[in-house]
Amino acid sequence: MFLTREEERILAGEKGVGSQRAMELLLAIGKIYDAERLVPVTSAHLSGVSYKTIGDGGLDFLMQMAEDARVSVRTTLNPAGMDRERWGEMGVSPEFARKQTAIIDTYAKMGVEANCTCTPYLTGNTPRQGETIAWAESSALSYVNSVLDARTNREGGPGALAAAIVGKTPMYGLHLEENRHATVVIEAEVQDEITDYSLLGHAVGLRLGGAVPYFKGIRPDVNGLKTLAAAMAAAGSVALFHVEGITPKASAQKLESLERVQIGREEIERAKDSLTTGRDPDLIALGCPHLSRMEMKMLASRLDGRRKRPDAPEVWFCTSRTVRTWCPKETAVLERFGKVLCDTCMIVAPIEPAHKCTATNSAKACTYLPGLCSQKVICDSYSALLEMIL
Ligand code: F3S
Repeated sequence: MFLTREEERILAGEKGVGSQRAMELLLAIGKIYDAERLVPVTSAHLSGVSYKTIGDGGLDFLMQMAEDARVSVRTTLNPAGMDRERWGEMGVSPEFARKQTAIIDTYAKMGVEANCTCTPYLTGNTPRQGETIAWAESSALSYVNSVLDARTNREGGPGALAAAIVGKTPMYGLHLEENRHATVVIEAEVQDEITDYSLLGHAVGLRLGGAVPYFKGIRPDVNGLKTLAAAMAAAGSVALFHVEGITPKASAQKLESLERVQIGREEIERAKDSLTTGRDPDLIALGCPHLSRMEMKMLASRLDGRRKRPDAPEVWFCTSRTVRTWCPKETAVLERFGKVLCDTCMIVAPIEPAHKCTATNSAKACTYLPGLCSQKVICDSYSALLEMIL
């Protein structure tokens, strides 16, 4: 891979050991994918934040990097293993909290914004059309590739951190125009319900793996798009999609020669049934990806004036700290029914000691809850889940 003089100097360690390690990693990735050169990025988003997922090894790695490395572009952070203010109420141990705080502080030392959300594009880190970026978090990167027409590969946590430090990323994959075209047409039939988009994404991800789908027949709003992106990336490895009449590059796609796949009600229902493995939840967890302001308002309007059943399961509404701050009235309503948690989610928090069966409307969460959190799972719509607590 071609390196400029400046890049060679970073590789030789002239800008410190952390930057050198970051450049070594970018070079290794570039060689694997046959990238010709590095391209500048304007922002990064990092996964690998929860102590539950990265452990002591991850913390040690970050502390070594933070000795002299700093990010050189705007960089935001994915959810951590706990709400930084309410971890005690979540049943998180003091030892876990101490390590988790150390991880977030270490990222902050490197200049990363410690906002801890998987929807940074809703709260300020919003790439503009055509920007080259390096984002981890499969749901977020698929959203910004598709809905905002920014350009990122499906980065892992270390690769995104390396790009954030160097300010560049290897030019391959979705940074190249020829890899951004639709490869299959999906003729979908869904009711305009957020959960349906999630289940559609699950079905598409399972069937098509890493394709670039072009959707016809659906009209998702921001919430539908973010859950569709999340589910496709979790069940498959979709990192870019187009939606007719909605996403910016949809009208430029050439569809004539593409395979067509129909996904209707039956397949959506099958996806829901296949994800459901339990009954009688002890936790209802909403907000995967993190709840938007619109979803907070919708949930609060459905619950306002109602009463929580005395035997209702515990409820988590997971959102970003920014959205929670934007929605004080809605938060007050939701807090009567559960906890409005920030910085974290039902997957990266250590829920398994306290909970055995979790209900959610997110196919992505349903995909990960059994393996990462040892949970039985119930997949259902917002309406059905709210009925369980009223
Ligand atoms: Fe976000 Fe956690 Fe879901 S990081 S996309 S809420 S699994």
